[in-house]
Amino acid sequence: MKLRAKIALGLGGLFVALQVVPVDRTNPPVTGEIQAPAEVKGVLKRACWDCHSNETVWPWYARVAPVSFLVRHHVKDGRRHLNFSEWAGYTPERKAKKFEECGKEVSEGKMPMTSYVLLHPEAQLTDAEKKSLAAWAGGAVND
Ligand code: HEC
Repeated sequence: MKLRAKIALGLGGLFVALQVVPVDRTNPPVTGEIQAPAEVKGVLKRACWDCHSNETVWPWYARVAPVSFLVRHHVKDGRRHLNFSEWAGYTPERKAKKFEECGKEVSEGKMPMTSYVLLHPEAQLTDAEKKSLAAWAGGAVND
């Protein structure tokens, strides 16, 4: 067998083997969802919910390793930092800090993540949406 064929076969075997590695794609119960004006909530649901809530819509490629590992990592990490489904359980200090970070991340264009927007064009926020989200977060901090 030619070396190239061997390499291809090896990679193919690796790809198949990776598929049996278990990936946790569970959605834990929603225990205390964040309250927000409908307009803001719509933006959050459209652009943030998949990584920052317990109601992730897992895309088909989240079933195919190694992409599944990456998606799982983003969701796990995203939920750990900020979970709108468990928001009511946060302390007032934590809420204030997260509001502040939300305004900052969105204004600076860091959230939603670029790789996510490429695959979910509907998550692209207009300048007006960014402003309204930042205004909401800013107002909430000073409540
Ligand atoms: C593809 C998944 C994904 C999406 C979509 C996403 N985030 Fe994130 N977010 C993450 C991850 C992962 C982190 C933690 C790592 C980091 O800070 O980059 C994070 C971190 C954050 C943080 C920082 C929290 C902290 O404690 O430092 C804020 C605030 C945030 N996201 C807000 C948002 C908002 C608001 C949206 C929607 C407009 C959004 N994110 C969309 C994955 C995502």
